[in-house]
Amino acid sequence: MAHKSHITIFEMGFGTGLNALLTLLQAEQMAQNVDYYAVELYPIPAEEACKANFSEQLGVAVDRFRSLHSAEWDKAVAIDNRFTLTKIQGDLVNLELPLGIDLVYFDAFDPEAQPELWSETIFKKLYEAMSNEGVLVTYSSKGIVKQALRAAGFFVQRLSGPPGKRHMVRAIKREHE
Ligand SMILES: C[S@@+](CC[C@H](N)C(=O)[O-])C[C@H]1O[C@@H](n2cnc3c(N)ncnc32)[C@H](O)[C@@H]1O
Repeated sequence: MAHKSHITIFEMGFGTGLNALLTLLQAEQMAQNVDYYAVELYPIPAEEACKANFSEQLGVAVDRFRSLHSAEWDKAVAIDNRFTLTKIQGDLVNLELPLGIDLVYFDAFDPEAQPELWSETIFKKLYEAMSNEGVLVTYSSKGIVKQALRAAGFFVQRLSGPPGKRHMVRAIKREHE
């Protein structure tokens, strides 16, 4: 994807907020403007989430992490002058997605636990909301996941995973081959 001064990220499953925190730190380092959307069906109370010692492990002030959790739901909140967070309390299945998504973190529970989310229908919905050359990344490289992504129109690549994970998947929306 060509460099964009402003990118839109959509996360499936805000959970503990770890992905959002890592992205906030990376955006800061790269001086990248980010509009970060995350959907979550079962939000974790802020106090509960802050018990995880991510800030300590990453060497970040706990207030940085807390700011992600204390941000109001269903509202765009400026975390700093480059990073805007919109946490959406809802279900991905019937969510109206923001348009022009450049990057998707697809972080649902395992395909065996939530087969309805790892489906062609859901991937197609994401595909349609993404910009051309947009990228979806996910930790599952199961055959049925790659198949559903391809059926939705993505160009699918299997990549080496992070430590402890053999493989992950990158799927690219490529409208003009
Ligand atoms: C694997 S966890 C995500 C972890 C998270 N990305 C993090 O950094 O901690 C999956 C998350 O998806 C949420 N979830 C499950 N089904 C959902 C749905 N239909 N719509 C939105 N969120 C959902 C779960 O509540 C859970 O927090």
